[in-house]
Amino acid sequence: MKNNKSLLLKAINKSPLERTPIWIMRQAGRYLPEYRALRRKYDFLTLCKTPELATEITLQPIRRFGLDAAILFADILFIPEALGQELIFSERGGPVLSPPIRSFSDIQSLKTEALSENLLFVNQTIQIIRHELNDHIPLIGFSGAPFTLAVYMIEGQSSRNFHQAKSFMYEAPNHFHQLLQKLTKEIIEYLKMQITAGVEVVQLFETWGNILPPHLFGEFSSPYLKKIATELKPLGVPVILYVRGGMTHLFELQDSQAQVLGIDWQTDLAQVKDNFFPKFSLQGNLDPGVLYGSKEFISREIRHILSLFQNESGHIFNLGHGIPPDVPLDKVEFLIETVHSLSTKYHQKGHHEQ
Ligand code: CP3
Repeated sequence: MKNNKSLLLKAINKSPLERTPIWIMRQAGRYLPEYRALRRKYDFLTLCKTPELATEITLQPIRRFGLDAAILFADILFIPEALGQELIFSERGGPVLSPPIRSFSDIQSLKTEALSENLLFVNQTIQIIRHELNDHIPLIGFSGAPFTLAVYMIEGQSSRNFHQAKSFMYEAPNHFHQLLQKLTKEIIEYLKMQITAGVEVVQLFETWGNILPPHLFGEFSSPYLKKIATELKPLGVPVILYVRGGMTHLFELQDSQAQVLGIDWQTDLAQVKDNFFPKFSLQGNLDPGVLYGSKEFISREIRHILSLFQNESGHIFNLGHGIPPDVPLDKVEFLIETVHSLSTKYHQKGHHEQ
């Protein structure tokens, strides 16, 4: 594969490297003035569905910063839309899917025949990005994980206590599983399409993993994540599982075929390293809120993370969740520069600090 020399792929494969790679979840978005400028002219859905515009936005953070990966500009909610729910991004209240799924017959009437056709704009965007992006920078594709998508499809919008999703799951677990199975199949098809179009790494977002009690993660989430990773394995494109919810959840993924675990900022990275670094590469997990802090505190937190890995390969620096829209740009710049310089020192010297 042409990008085997990229820092990101080296870290994923635990090959020797000169510094730690860094990218930022939601790196293309509202904290960037050049994004806000385009967003004044077009709504979010138009930006995502016009391949030239989605390409431009994907490349914005790459042009501005020394980031080591680009991530496709799209949204996890395009699968529910492609399956027949209407998707609206309201200016104030966030995404709305309608009608929400409330019964078994709603699941049965999802339109599974035309997924790739309905998501053709993603395929086209990837091809244009791959053409325009420097060969050394890998492109990350993504999908929401089955459980996270199911929760959105049932709630129909963001939720505080997940009343609808939980009543569906706990009242009709078998039907809930049928929805998860359907989504798993569609996600595999969607990610295979992204890989064929040119993405070199894929990330699954199990954003709502943290609303599952630890002992139920193995029932409602991890089997589906594992199925997707297994199906993608023969394609040779590494899979990052970003899961919110902590150590017990991660233990359920121990025997998965994924190469990277993405760690949320509320999970202790030192503990994760002790338990999972032998098998997986790890991504994360700076608290995004640290970017509201002083440069001294930002450096301190970066050092805390980098010192866990020292000069070992296998860590990808990232935030532990998406970057908020209102962080100061100079702090983002500082973050990236500091990760570059500190990790270069660790790797150059074969440096070990106690
Ligand atoms: O830069 C990137 O990371 C790539 C693009 C990307 C977006 N959303 C763009 C976006 C990715 C990978 C996502 C994933 C996503 N979308 C998740 C999982 C990641 C996570 O944060 O846990 C979720 C839960 C969604 C659903 C979603 N999309 C919500 C809840 C919202 C509204 C909340 C918000 O942040 O405004 C969106 C909108 C959205 N997706 C924006 C962007 C840049 C903001 C759109 C705008 O310009 O108004």
